[in-house]
Amino acid sequence: MEIKKSLFITSLDAYKSFPGRGMPQIAVAGKSNVGKSSLINSLCRMKNLARVSGTPGKTRLMNIFLLNDAFHLVDLPGYGFAKVDKQEKERWGEMMEHYFADTDCLCLTLHLVDIRHDPTQDDVTMNRFLRGSGLPFIVVATKADKISRGARSKFLAPIYRTLEVQPWQVIPYSSETGEGRNQLLSAISDALSHK
Ligand code: GTP
Ligand code: MG
Repeated sequence: MEIKKSLFITSLDAYKSFPGRGMPQIAVAGKSNVGKSSLINSLCRMKNLARVSGTPGKTRLMNIFLLNDAFHLVDLPGYGFAKVDKQEKERWGEMMEHYFADTDCLCLTLHLVDIRHDPTQDDVTMNRFLRGSGLPFIVVATKADKISRGARSKFLAPIYRTLEVQPWQVIPYSSETGEGRNQLLSAISDALSHK
């Protein structure tokens, strides 16, 4: 599969209907700053489709994109941000709850974790939630260009262990070099064809 067309549809501050809702969806979840927006841009080969920020937790909205006129990519707001008040955290929680309560169209969730760090408690919670809900997911280990090829297994092992996932469920990915892009596109294509 290749992404031939990508369009930004809308940003939502609460989960509600949006134009075209009902098409298959692929969700992108992960903590703030893990590289969600960068991954979307690299998948679509667009520079500024999704806004990339140096400040974690800036995008606390749900951003919806339409790819190939065939499915929606949903950029979920990041979790694990420190400098956020209680009210904002509650709004985030509600948005996620509403989103994952309405999964008829959800084919696959890409759960992003930073390849360089042990998964956080929030990562574990997110992953357990996906698994517990029986939602298909794939773990994407981001920023793979930051570690050498030789050090891969040393960094991947704690991810397998902490999230209790199999190596085939994890794709090392780099938005900078395009590593993992084809593998991820295949996983997305498979998930869409099984819907
Ligand atoms: P929020 O929307 O704030 O939750 O963040 P996000 O998960 O969308 O992360 P974003 O894509 O904005 O990237 C955060 C920072 O990490 C930026 O400075 C990116 O340039 C950097 N980054 C993202 N992906 C990669 C990658 O694959 N390699 C490298 N080297 N840097 C990356
Ligand atoms: Mg973002």
